Amino acid sequence: MGAAVPESELTTSNENLRFRVTPGGRLTGSLRVPGDKSISHRSIILGAVAEGTTRVSGFLEGEDSLATLNAFRRMGVEIEGPDGGNLIVHGVGRDGLQAPNGPLDLGNSGTSMRLLSGMLSGQGFSVVLSGDASLSGRPMRRVTDPLGLMGADIHTTESGTAPLWIHGSACLKGIDYPMPVASAQVKSCLLLAGLYADGETCVREPAVTRDHTERMLAGFGYPVRLSANRICLTGGGRLKACNLEVPADISSAAFFLVGATIAEGSELLLEHVGMNPTRDGVIRILRLMGADIEILDPRDAGGEPVADLRVRASRLKGIHIPQELVPLAIDEFPALFIAAACADGETVLTGAEELRVKESDRIQVMADGLVQLGIKAMPTADGMRIRGGRIDGGRVDSHGDHRIAMSFAIAGLCARGEVLIDDCENVNTSFPGFLDLASGIGLGIEQQALED
Ligand code: S3P
Repeated sequence: MGAAVPESELTTSNENLRFRVTPGGRLTGSLRVPGDKSISHRSIILGAVAEGTTRVSGFLEGEDSLATLNAFRRMGVEIEGPDGGNLIVHGVGRDGLQAPNGPLDLGNSGTSMRLLSGMLSGQGFSVVLSGDASLSGRPMRRVTDPLGLMGADIHTTESGTAPLWIHGSACLKGIDYPMPVASAQVKSCLLLAGLYADGETCVREPAVTRDHTERMLAGFGYPVRLSANRICLTGGGRLKACNLEVPADISSAAFFLVGATIAEGSELLLEHVGMNPTRDGVIRILRLMGADIEILDPRDAGGEPVADLRVRASRLKGIHIPQELVPLAIDEFPALFIAAACADGETVLTGAEELRVKESDRIQVMADGLVQLGIKAMPTADGMRIRGGRIDGGRVDSHGDHRIAMSFAIAGLCARGEVLIDDCENVNTSFPGFLDLASGIGLGIEQQALED
């Protein structure tokens, strides 16, 4: 474990998709955003090694979850679809995965890489996991170090990044691991490795993180033991295929929760949104800021809570974001920073240093874009201070980060001039159809393909 190998060549794209957003407008009507990305990944991963046929509805047909799907196809799993969000996964059972005939390219998807690194460490074959330039810059020792403690033979580049070289081993052993960072990807990676380990694997969380893996394992009939901040399972068991319904992604709904709040005269209904309590920080934070969000018809969808959300425009006020809500809204801060830019007074975020290692450095890239649009935004090591004010028109660079591109698109609703956003092609990783859905409810947005 831990031996470094040379850096690989990074892939770069020479496309540049620009969003052009006309200022003003309001959001009205109703819509269902695409399926939850985290749950979609897990439906493939667990369905693939289950016994029997797993039927999935509401699957996210975005590039990230399709990267996971293609990886399992390349390991011999027959998957029908996706067709309108419907998928049929013909599980190959616990030991049925086969060696792929070359590296598995996981594109932009950190979730694919970190979760697969766990499951594939326990297989009887070797595999290389690679990704695009952004993914190849993200920290991977957070998974390879604890996997090494379990006996995995897994290597990163010298700087602790992808590609990952995995020499699968049939003799992993369970560990009891206190996670140094609150990360659902690390937790899930270790639980998936734990399925293949001798004895018990336990993960202790420093703060609550999304629990989709635990819920879905239970849905596949695999016992998971939960106590306070500790999640344990025993290796060697079998998963039984089941049917899964993927709710709409609260992380994608977040752009419209913020957009309808900041654009005067808006009233929007977001349908069938995943309301898992480990993911609903965005609603709690927006409500603390004064947002008008009604939770309608809360119900269960295959082991995950869902609801419809009615949101109406309202005046926001700046707040100090409570620390305990940070991991529950970790992907929604780009959108929340736009809410803060439109609020009265100052919003302060601390304890969110993880934002610096997402698809981009979301603290720096969002602060740069906000300043570009005339907002006083001061990045700090672990967060940001934002003074609400007037958003000017201007041009910002999303640095290829899907959530930053969509957040600045929403900012156009409150801007005084046209907002141009560069490097938007990765919006398809999590939100295919964003442009059409957003313009259908009132955002003045179009795209232009530029040459580099
Ligand atoms: C995810 C966990 C989070 C989140 C990511 C998806 C998951 O990452 O940011 O978009 O599906 O487990 P971390 O575990 O790194 O916080």
